[in-house]
Amino acid sequence: MSSIKTVAVLGGTGKEGSGLAMRWAAKGYSVIIGSREGEKAVAKAAEMNAALGISTVQGMANPDAARAADVVVLSVPYSAHKSTLEGVKDAVQGKVMIDLTVPLQPPKIRTVHVPEGKAASLESQAFLGESVRVCCAFQNVSAEHLVDPHYEVDCDVLVCGNDAEAKKLVIELVEATGMRGIDAGPLANAVAVESLTPVLLYINKAYATKGSGIRITGIG
Ligand SMILES: NC(=O)c1ccc[n+]([C@@H]2O[C@H](COP(=O)([O-])OP(=O)(O)OC[C@H]3O[C@@H](n4cnc5c(N)ncnc54)[C@H](OP(=O)(O)O)[C@@H]3O)[C@@H](O)[C@H]2O)c1
Repeated sequence: MSSIKTVAVLGGTGKEGSGLAMRWAAKGYSVIIGSREGEKAVAKAAEMNAALGISTVQGMANPDAARAADVVVLSVPYSAHKSTLEGVKDAVQGKVMIDLTVPLQPPKIRTVHVPEGKAASLESQAFLGESVRVCCAFQNVSAEHLVDPHYEVDCDVLVCGNDAEAKKLVIELVEATGMRGIDAGPLANAVAVESLTPVLLYINKAYATKGSGIRITGIG
């Protein structure tokens, strides 16, 4: 039996966050969409409920969404990362956070950019403090087909974090999306995971696709 009661997706109005939220809601998790604007979140939640034929998805302003959840997913562009964290710092204390932000530096989104704190999720951990158990996951999953819960996304999801129990919860949420979650070590390894995304964006362009992903072989 899962110990996860409610998942809030901050920036869940966007491409990646709404796709993951749809999949968790379809699997019966209690999901809250977060946004800078409460009304925008409520509208997105209503859209998801209608698409899934349910009424459990809620919409709230980001701080309220974070406060009401036990797992908080951060899904905003890197340019909005710091300001979003500032707005929810108090609300996320003591919780598990999944940071899927990729520190892209437009317009050069197909070239690896290592930020000042080495990785967006390491910056989150440093800013939020040790009581928040930050994990990184989903950076290498294209939003292209996520929103259709019946579409089988062909990739693995690397999960990094410093707390074994938190990583277990995150891997449970990964598996609920239909993908395979892989323990990829401590949060320091997020540097490599986040850096893979610009590589995949390059591959997408070179091979005229939108959905390249990664697979780990040799582990059965
Ligand atoms: N798209 C993909 O295929 C993909 C794949 C892997 C990882 N990622 C990563 O996942 C994260 C989200 O990607 P996305 O494609 O979902 O992004 P997005 O759709 O452009 O934005 C997500 C949400 O972030 C909020 N936001 C946008 N600009 C903002 C700003 N200037 N200040 C504060 N909030 C802002 C918006 O929510 P509100 O307006 O409702 O507040 C928006 O709906 C990014 O870090 C991205 O690199 C994306």
